[in-house]
Amino acid sequence: MTVIAVANQKGGVGKTTTAINLGTALAATDKRVLIIDLDPQGNASTGLGIHRADRKKSSYDVLIGECSVVDAVIGTVVPGLDIVPATVDLSGAEIELVDYEERTHRLDHALDAASDRWDVVLIDCPPSLGLLTINAMVAADSLLVPLQCEFFALEGLSQLLSTVERIRTRFNPGLAILGVALTMYDRRNRLTDQVSADVRAVLGKVVFDTVIPRNVRLSEAPSHGVPALIYDYRCSGSEAYMALARELIGRLPPAAPAIAA
Ligand SMILES: Nc1ncnc2c1ncn2[C@@H]1O[C@H](COP(=O)(O)OP(=O)(O)O)[C@@H](O)[C@H]1O
Ligand SMILES: [Mg+2]
Repeated sequence: MTVIAVANQKGGVGKTTTAINLGTALAATDKRVLIIDLDPQGNASTGLGIHRADRKKSSYDVLIGECSVVDAVIGTVVPGLDIVPATVDLSGAEIELVDYEERTHRLDHALDAASDRWDVVLIDCPPSLGLLTINAMVAADSLLVPLQCEFFALEGLSQLLSTVERIRTRFNPGLAILGVALTMYDRRNRLTDQVSADVRAVLGKVVFDTVIPRNVRLSEAPSHGVPALIYDYRCSGSEAYMALARELIGRLPPAAPAIAA
């Protein structure tokens, strides 16, 4: 099982859109995928059609030790894609967890108990570098950073990277940066071209070749409670997330061979 935190403390850069559609694309390639919605806004849960009334157990319950990951899982319309939904309770978790033992390792321990059920776990992080995102980074093998193609794209990245460095030193030495994904790329806008060239010049090979275009289908799909890949699998956004999934699989460590009986 490989655990990937989709993180960037900026809001609106495409974390949730990436978690939903990359998760769907990975499931389409026969991976068993789990999304953990770790944002109190619960956009990943809503975007996957999980109504609030159906969120009996949530990522909050998992973090406070009220239930296991497996108990909190709900299936989605996508075969092979499950989710641990988020509820508004999660907005208090940053403060509540301070009093808990091993407050930075709550999610890590919960996932340890669930390994083998899924091939890939994507954690949809909130737009902050607080305790929720730290739990995600401690639990994760690697980080996927969506970066919006806009003028201030790189601003804030140094803060993110210094948090990663702190997590490596103190808790999770193996935490890798799996890749940076450029999102909301607009062909007709020269600025986004310039931004993507600058980002590649600064960050180099860590940036995925695949670029996610600005595509209205990607923003419409959540209101229908389905991933864009189901809403319109031929739109440019869906195709881009399929390409990103292929590129990402190429970067994952090979799965351990099954032990011969
Ligand atoms: N590639 C894209 N093209 C068009 N709209 C997008 C794209 N990616 C995200 N959006 C829209 O932009 C907004 C912010 O995206 P979201 O994934 O929720 O960001 P985050 O989770 O980082 O806050 C949402 O309304 C989403 O539908
Ligand atoms: Mg989000």
